[in-house]
Amino acid sequence: MTDDRKLTEEVLRAYAAAPDPRLRELTAALIRHLHAFAAETRLTHREWMAGLEFLTAVGQLCDDQRQEFVLLSDVLGLSAQVDNANAAAGATEPTVLGPFYRPGAPHRAPGEHVGRPEDGDATLIKGRVTDTSGQPIAGATLDVWQCSANGLYDTQDPDQPPFNLRGIFTTAADGGYVFRTVRPVSYPIPVDGPVGDLLRAAGRHNWRASHVHAIVAAAGYEPVTTHIFDAENEYLRSDAVFGVRDSLVRAFRPAGPDDPADVRFVVDADFALAPAG
Ligand code: BEZ
Ligand code: FE
Repeated sequence: MTDDRKLTEEVLRAYAAAPDPRLRELTAALIRHLHAFAAETRLTHREWMAGLEFLTAVGQLCDDQRQEFVLLSDVLGLSAQVDNANAAAGATEPTVLGPFYRPGAPHRAPGEHVGRPEDGDATLIKGRVTDTSGQPIAGATLDVWQCSANGLYDTQDPDQPPFNLRGIFTTAADGGYVFRTVRPVSYPIPVDGPVGDLLRAAGRHNWRASHVHAIVAAAGYEPVTTHIFDAENEYLRSDAVFGVRDSLVRAFRPAGPDDPADVRFVVDADFALAPAG
């Protein structure tokens, strides 16, 4: 056995007696992968220290308003891997929550507009919430949020009223829901910290594919945190946080004569929830 393998085995043994079996499993896998990373890349002391300094800077930027570690997890695709690992079979695919979710959005009436005319092109979004076998779920809630035409969420923009472009809608007896919002635009994720340094060093852009966020929930079902993506957006194949799933991409079709006269686009988006485990 090589010296690096011997060392890995010795460290694994040192943690093997942790009483919590899940902690034991996670710690062992973390040690194996960290050691393999150092061995495979022949990590130098300088690189090891640069990595630690980078993580220190990430931590130093975190407070109750800013979570640079989550952003780091997002741009490395780790958040997306965790979403994938926890997706319920047959249910709508989950994707990143992001830092702009704000609990306590107002409950709104069916069809209500969550924004203002200046937020963008009025868009009607409608569909049904069902279980994984297609049975409608009445009383399910859709907590939706998105940014305005300037790419900013209400929490980033003092010119927007509180809870602008946010609202909670409830499904009817047939599982149907409908709300008005605006066609979302792409926006840049924050790059004024170490995550920005990483993106620049990697030659990556920092744009998110345009989306509407939704947390869909109902009693007795696993809630799903997801997005509705615009099929015509230019960043669908290069989303900065790897959040796009083909199943979540929807057509924003121009409103026709049979659609309400006050909207420019119409989107059909159904959601499916799995029973609570
Ligand atoms: C968002 O969609 O709100 C978001 C997700 C990840 C990082 C930054 C923003
Ligand atoms: Fe977002």
